[in-house]
Amino acid sequence: MTKLGRLYPLLDGVQLPDNLPYTQVSTWELKFLCLLGRQHLTGQGRVVELGSGGGGSTYALALGLRESPVFDETTGRLHAYDFFHVGKGTFATEKFFTSGTKPADGNSFLDDFRDRLEPFLPFLEIHAGDIWQTSDPDDTTSIEFLHIDIAKTARVFRCVSERFLTRLVPGSVVLHQDFAGPRLPWLHHSTGALLPYIEIAGPPIRSTLAFEVTRPIPEDVLKRISEDDYTLDEKLALISAVQDRIDRDHTGGIPFKSVLELAKAYVAHYAGEHKRAWSIADPLTSDAYLSRTRADHFEQLRTAYETDRAATPRVSPVARLKRLVGKG
Ligand SMILES: C[S@@+](CC[C@H](N)C(=O)[O-])C[C@H]1O[C@@H](n2cnc3c(N)ncnc32)[C@H](O)[C@@H]1O
Repeated sequence: MTKLGRLYPLLDGVQLPDNLPYTQVSTWELKFLCLLGRQHLTGQGRVVELGSGGGGSTYALALGLRESPVFDETTGRLHAYDFFHVGKGTFATEKFFTSGTKPADGNSFLDDFRDRLEPFLPFLEIHAGDIWQTSDPDDTTSIEFLHIDIAKTARVFRCVSERFLTRLVPGSVVLHQDFAGPRLPWLHHSTGALLPYIEIAGPPIRSTLAFEVTRPIPEDVLKRISEDDYTLDEKLALISAVQDRIDRDHTGGIPFKSVLELAKAYVAHYAGEHKRAWSIADPLTSDAYLSRTRADHFEQLRTAYETDRAATPRVSPVARLKRLVGKG
C-alpha cells in the first residue's frame, strides 16, 4: 500500500461540520483534504491551495491541520490563492458569496471568505488576485502540499507548473482537482510526464487524483511541462501511461480510462486537429458514463470536425489522380 493509500480506509470515519462553506468539491474530496491535514502534513514545507473559491476546500484542509498533532499554528501557514471575485474568465461562481448572489455594490467575495474562515485566519495567508500577479516567480521554497483547483486554462496551468510544480521535492503531495475533466488534458499529460518521479496514492477520489513525489523531478522535465514542449503524439502517449495506472475512482462511479481517452480527443482538438479529435471521440459516444455526463463535449468535438470538413473543398477521385500524375 502507498503511504497516502493508508488514508483511504479512514475516509468513512471523517465527520465534517454542517457549517462548511459552499463548495464545488465533493464530500469525499473534502474528507480526503481533512484527513491529509490531520494525519499526513507537518507544515514544515509550504502548504498551498490554488483555487480556494468560497473556502469550502480551504475549510476542510484547515480543520484537518487544526486537529493535527504535529502542525504548529504559530509557525505553519496555509496559503490560499484565488481571484476572490467573480467576473468574466474567473471560473468563480456567485455561490461563493455568503448570500449566494453577487451584491449590487461589488464583485469581491474576499470578505465573505474571511468571515467563513475566521477560526483559521491566524495561520491562513491569503493571496487575492490573478495567480500570475500574486505568486512570486523567485520563490523557491519547497512545497509540502499542493492542492490544484485552479488550472482550468492552459494559461493558468503554465503558471502552476512554472512557479509551483518546480518547488516539489520528494515527500511533496499533490492533489489535482477536476482530473475527471476531459477538457483539461494538461493535467493528464503532465502527470504522465511525472510518472517516473511520483507514486499515485490509489484510485482517484471522485474527480481528484492524489500523488506523492518519490524522486527529485529533473529540471528538464519540469521545463518541458511548463513550456508545453510535447508533440501531440507524445501527449497522447503520456496520457496512455496514466491510463495504465488508474481505472475506476474510489467510489466506483467514474471510469477514468474512458475519461482519459476523451481527454486525448481534446489534446487533438486544442492542436486544431479536429478530424483526429473526432476519430478518437466518436467511438466513445457509446460509453454509458461519457454519453450521460459529457454530451456537450461530444457536441463540441463533432461540430468542430464538421465545420472543418465543410470548409475543406472536396476533390473528386479523378482530379486527385490527375494531380498525383501531374496532369491536374
Ligand atoms: C473550481 S473553483 C474552486 C473551488 C473551491 N476549491 C471549492 O472548494 O469550492 C476554481 C477557482 O479558481 C479561481 N481561479 C481561476 N483562475 C484563476 C487565476 N488566474 N488566478 C486566481 N484564481 C483563479 C477562481 O476564482 C475559482 O474560485
